[in-house]
Amino acid sequence: LDNGLGLTPAMGWSSWNVAQCASASERYALDTANKFVSLGLKDLGYSYVNIDDCWSTKARDSSGNLVPDPSKWPNGIKSVADKIHGMGLKMGLYGCVGTMTCAGYPGSWGHETQDAKLLASWGIDFWKHDACYTPCTNGQTPQTCWSAAFNTRPWYETMRNALASVKSTKNIMFNLCQWGRDSVWTWGKEVGNSWRIEGDNWQDWASVQRIGSTAGRIYQYSGPGGFNDLDMLIVGNNKLTENQERLHFGLWAICKSPLILGNDLNKISSASLAIIKNKGIIDINQDKLGKSATTFQPPGSGAPVSGKIHPYWAGPLSDGVVIGLVAINGATTMSVNFKDVPGLGSGTYSWKEMYSGRTGSGTSVSFSLGTHDMAVVKVTTSGGSQTTQAPTSSRTSTSAPPQ
Ligand code: GLA
Repeated sequence: LDNGLGLTPAMGWSSWNVAQCASASERYALDTANKFVSLGLKDLGYSYVNIDDCWSTKARDSSGNLVPDPSKWPNGIKSVADKIHGMGLKMGLYGCVGTMTCAGYPGSWGHETQDAKLLASWGIDFWKHDACYTPCTNGQTPQTCWSAAFNTRPWYETMRNALASVKSTKNIMFNLCQWGRDSVWTWGKEVGNSWRIEGDNWQDWASVQRIGSTAGRIYQYSGPGGFNDLDMLIVGNNKLTENQERLHFGLWAICKSPLILGNDLNKISSASLAIIKNKGIIDINQDKLGKSATTFQPPGSGAPVSGKIHPYWAGPLSDGVVIGLVAINGATTMSVNFKDVPGLGSGTYSWKEMYSGRTGSGTSVSFSLGTHDMAVVKVTTSGGSQTTQAPTSSRTSTSAPPQ
């Protein structure tokens, strides 16, 4: 969306996974903001403290305004947003296209401009707009009409326009949460700063596989101001193995997804914390070029399989190329010749693997990976580290087995 926001993917946290409705409160918002500072996450770029569903009362007030639930927000929302801003951080809230949010709280249908004004008056920086209880024209009940042939785009344009109308008071980042319907990636950039590409990350390995497999097919639609949103991260929730957590974070990062933590920062293990604090991987995610990685097929490797994360990924960076190697079929040694990688040629390149910290220079890389682990390799193409060059002309050369 051309509102000047989200030129690189948003980084932050969402309350939803922690305790669903129970974590949509001042206590969790301020606690998370404090943790961003004390754990060093703020210094790495994590800035959005986003409160998800259930922050309001179940009914609007007599003027039709949304009301923060006083049991969760004893001091209202503005005072919390002010405190969060005072810490150099940002605050996000959640709402819905339809008459109710997914958890049954008031939605913005018919109240879009009123809601945008309220958000702006509180200083809210980020708005996630969900797609439950949308109107039905086909006799289906709300919540189920999404299965019909529907056009969600106008609903999101209504909220985009409402947010634009308050831009001089507050410029609000806009996240479209309609679960990848209507090929949202083809029009999302005109409507929002990011858009969910899939159904929820249900905090399991199957979700990570499903979303990761979709991301490789729609990489071309992400760019500065509008990114594919692969959904919240579940690193740190004891739902994945450590290898799977590295893969989850690494893949989301190279696909230029917003990096929105979906965990309780009071309970995160040191191993998981190290993953979400990997500066090399964060820098790749935040690279100003803003182009997503996608799958590629070195000679002898198979084509992507729907529903399964592909083993080989690559994408352009402003000063190089990122390669992702995923041991999706079990522990193995994965190797790649740089000349087989889109954007690289037959030259010698300097590289760094971001989880191990290993560095080197050569024409190929090779890593021994455990089941479901990932190597995230940055290959530098500018700054004098490349000794020969011919990226395009060399792409036709025949392959030799990697060293
Ligand atoms: C939907 C969204 C989730 C979360 C819940 C809240 O399922 O996709 O990310 O916001 O609603 O009810």
